Amino acid sequence: MSTSRSYFDDLYRNNDDPWRYRTSWYERRKRDLVLASLPRERYESAFEPACSNGELSAMIARRCTRLLACDVSEAAVRSASERLADTSNIALEQRAVPDEWPTDARFDLIVISELAYYLSPEATATLARHASTSLSDNGTLVACHWRHPFEGKLQSAEDIHATFDAAFHGVRIVQHAEADFILDVWSKDGRSIAQREGIA
Ligand SMILES: C[S@@+](CC[C@H](N)C(=O)[O-])C[C@H]1O[C@@H](n2cnc3c(N)ncnc32)[C@H](O)[C@@H]1O
Repeated sequence: MSTSRSYFDDLYRNNDDPWRYRTSWYERRKRDLVLASLPRERYESAFEPACSNGELSAMIARRCTRLLACDVSEAAVRSASERLADTSNIALEQRAVPDEWPTDARFDLIVISELAYYLSPEATATLARHASTSLSDNGTLVACHWRHPFEGKLQSAEDIHATFDAAFHGVRIVQHAEADFILDVWSKDGRSIAQREGIA
């Protein structure tokens, strides 16, 4: 069981920025932390499922050659398309993950932010498996999830990140925990940022 498409369509029908991504300093700071946690300066091919209205997508796009971003909600994809109209390296698609994961593509960066508590534990395990399979050998997976309870939350941020950690055999290179959210980064080859720079 996962949260239905119509739930998100209804949400966006009333408000095209339901989480205040455009105006909230909390959200802007969190996006800065997500980008600062990436172990590489540049990526070739990134994937961001659940892009909402595209605020995080805009920042990821600056760090990669091309970005595929998707959302289950048609209204969210429309809003992201307007926000990113001047950004030429983004493809936006309406897709529900994990069922419509782009299994034929390879990525060196996958960002899963504020998504998996809308999925069942089984769907999250499938999502983590897809992420592991689609990620290139030197690829990076980022996950970031809110820790507080909310209506409709199907699992905790800690349980979600434990599922990703199991799929990535514990090669977590960044662990950032705040009272409000957790942010973790896994590097498929297990190399830390200093090891990549040759200083460790
Ligand atoms: C809280 S927003 C996260 C936005 C963005 N990832 C961020 O962190 O800034 C959650 C988004 O997930 C989308 N979503 C929920 N379930 C989904 C699914 N199964 N597949 C793709 N998108 C989904 C919703 O439509 C919504 O836009």
